[in-house]
Amino acid sequence: MTETTKIIVAIDGHSSCGKSTLAKQLADNYDFLYVDTGAMYRCITLLIQENNISLDDSEEIDQLLFNNKIYFKKVDKRQHTYINGRDVTDLIRSPKVSDWVSEVAAVSSIRKKMVEQQRIYGTEDNIIMDGRDIGTVVFPNAGLKIFLTASPEIRAQRRYKELLEKNIQISLEDVAKNLSKRDHIDSTREDSPLKKADDAVVVDNSTLTQEEQFEMVKGLINDAFGI
Ligand code: DC
Repeated sequence: MTETTKIIVAIDGHSSCGKSTLAKQLADNYDFLYVDTGAMYRCITLLIQENNISLDDSEEIDQLLFNNKIYFKKVDKRQHTYINGRDVTDLIRSPKVSDWVSEVAAVSSIRKKMVEQQRIYGTEDNIIMDGRDIGTVVFPNAGLKIFLTASPEIRAQRRYKELLEKNIQISLEDVAKNLSKRDHIDSTREDSPLKKADDAVVVDNSTLTQEEQFEMVKGLINDAFGI
């Protein structure tokens, strides 16, 4: 690795398997930038909903992509997501956005623009980036690729608990349905579907604590990058 080569850790996997929790822990530990690519697709979904844009209206979508800047900033040790200076960190986690985001993320013009931005991050900083196509499309040469997974039941339980803690009223059954719908759309879309990169390391965290998972992946990073 040359001095100017950036460290890129790609974490892909299904919805609600704990990618962002792990990515944040790692980014804090190594002082790397954390890039939550799902948040980027959620921001576009929010904008499409707020502006009542049809997914078939390619001109309006191009305008929207051109006119809006999505970025991340750490405030009080928590990473916040912004659209043109507006803090949308919590808004993009609402069930309304979650219900539509997979459909939005399947639109090729949107993916093209998001991938462009994501690749720029990789030239500027050492990064931990999570998503669905990071190891396969965004950074096929990433120094370490993790494919994170957990059983559908465990993922639904975890997501349900998270929403309850945020006082969002929803049944466990609806959470499970949303996850399964998103998994299906994300894995079967034509443009860069979710799949494990051939050289990704699979980490199934169904029976691991967050601490155990963190230690395991830290070991993989230290080995991969000699740090
Ligand atoms: O990780 P998340 O649940 O916040 O992601 C939201 C949606 O965005 C998810 O349904 C899949 C999509 N997504 C994607 O297609 N590609 C990425 N790199 C990240 C997320």
